[in-house]
Amino acid sequence: MENKIVLEVKNLCKYFGGIKAIDNINLKLYEKEIIAIVGDNGAGKSTLIKTISGVYKRTSGEIYINNKLSAINDPKSAKVYGIETVYQDQGVISILNAPSNLFLGREKTIKNFWGKIFKFTDDRFMKNETKNLLKKLDVELKNINSEISTLSGGQRQTVIIGRAVYWGGKILIFDEPTNNLGVKQERRILDLIKKLREEFGVSIIVITHNIEHVFELVDRIIVLRNGMVVGEKQKKESNHNEIVSMITGV
Ligand SMILES: Nc1ncnc2c1ncn2[C@@H]1O[C@H](COP(=O)(O)OP(=O)(O)OP(=O)(O)O)[C@@H](O)[C@H]1O
Ligand SMILES: [Mg+2]
Repeated sequence: MENKIVLEVKNLCKYFGGIKAIDNINLKLYEKEIIAIVGDNGAGKSTLIKTISGVYKRTSGEIYINNKLSAINDPKSAKVYGIETVYQDQGVISILNAPSNLFLGREKTIKNFWGKIFKFTDDRFMKNETKNLLKKLDVELKNINSEISTLSGGQRQTVIIGRAVYWGGKILIFDEPTNNLGVKQERRILDLIKKLREEFGVSIIVITHNIEHVFELVDRIIVLRNGMVVGEKQKKESNHNEIVSMITGV
């Protein structure tokens, strides 16, 4: 059975003045697939995903979602297409607790007069939803009411990742998801990424410099150099040395 393509990028270019940060990129992402985008510093990895997730406006090219031409022009429109991007420690408010962060900007109000008029939030509902979500993701917080700033980097990262799937993200993009994490938390995040595919059926793009993580996590590897795709390999048909030499070009 042919797998469904959830994301297809055709002839994508992003120039900064005279610099071709990404130059004529073509790539496909299949349903429930995990791919890695690898490459040296300055290869164009971040620019590629920022262009897909609407942070940068593309210079030219097309982005298809579920085989339909999309109109991704900013991060908000990318979210409408189910694209959620996760950067290390980005997008949480440290003095709020996990439920408030999960519902940030999309708070649930109580369904009666008080909720309608005074926008009283339904804290019990939000707490329960957060607990259920974290349970599904195999994460336990000692106290769900704690400020996010008191959680570990890995736990914070979990709340951000959880939020992406909770709000219907179907294509998740991670830019260096394990940066600055300790060994144990790194392990948790790697396991969590695998679990997301099983539990939520999402497709995932991971950018990482860690070649061990690449070989543990993904199905397919795409190598960028000087803003161009210079190689693409099924993980099963490749090895560390081959990928490293594609990255460096020697
Ligand atoms: N906002 C910008 N303005 C001008 N040039 C940029 C901008 N962002 C990136 N570039 C250039 O585009 C190229 C690709 O950069 P990019 O950040 O995408 O690389 P990267 O693969 O993510 O590198 P790293 O591994 O260091 O994160 C580089 O030459 C960089 O200098
Ligand atoms: Mg980068």
